[in-house]
Amino acid sequence: MATSPNTYRFDFEPWSFWTTATAAEKQDQLDWQAALAAQGQMTFGSQCFISKLAGVFPDSLDMGEGCYIAAHAHVSHTLKMGNHCSINVSAVVRGKVTMGNGVRIGGHTSILGFNHSFKTLDLPIHQQPLTFKGITIGDDVWIGSGVTIVDGVEIGSHSVIGAGAIVTRNIPPYSVAVGNPARVIKNRQKRSPVKQVMGKLKKLKLIWQSS
Ligand SMILES: CC(C)(COP(=O)(O)OP(=O)(O)OC[C@H]1O[C@@H](n2cnc3c(N)ncnc32)[C@H](O)[C@@H]1OP(=O)(O)O)[C@@H](O)C(=O)NCCC(=O)NCCS
Repeated sequence: MATSPNTYRFDFEPWSFWTTATAAEKQDQLDWQAALAAQGQMTFGSQCFISKLAGVFPDSLDMGEGCYIAAHAHVSHTLKMGNHCSINVSAVVRGKVTMGNGVRIGGHTSILGFNHSFKTLDLPIHQQPLTFKGITIGDDVWIGSGVTIVDGVEIGSHSVIGAGAIVTRNIPPYSVAVGNPARVIKNRQKRSPVKQVMGKLKKLKLIWQSS
């Protein structure tokens, strides 16, 4: 039963757990992780947080250090997370999913590393086998809220996926991708035309000053 307005705060805002929780709350979280790990095939790095309000029923789960899974998230099948990855409120991560370090996932996003096969017309789709290609996400990736990523997709390191995007194809590193289907609208390594001109002017001034 809730005892204060902040009872569920860390479930919905886990990023502040290890800096602000009480010693008793930290011990309770470690006990929860031990209970999950006792089911087998789950490992947790230091300073992870898994909300008791999340549905965490994987075949295999590896969480690096400083990772969290917030309330109402659903995790199943095979998930490997690097360090400092986050799964926010009501996000779904299912199928075969691998994340590097620093992968941050907004609320209500679905990362679906599996499909229902539907090859034959002689069986209902729900009775046909699942297929798993896997989704791979690099390092330092920000995935906004309400994104869907389908099976087989690779997302390159240092990319940003805008809110509401449906990602059906690979996204190269350093991309900003938005929309349905998601399209790359920017490369983070390329400077805008205005910045390029400013850079050239700066360079010219430096040459003029030094001559
Ligand atoms: C993608 C995002 C990061 C902005 O990136 P940006 O490089 O600054 O992009 P800009 O704002 O310059 O927009 C560039 C173009 O993309 C469009 N765009 C931006 N975000 C979009 C989105 N999520 N979906 C569709 N189009 C989008 C803009 O309308 C603009 O189009 P235009 O050139 O026709 O005007 C931001 O819009 C976004 O989606 N953030 C995620 C927010 C979120 O989910 N937060 C949860 C916290 S974890």
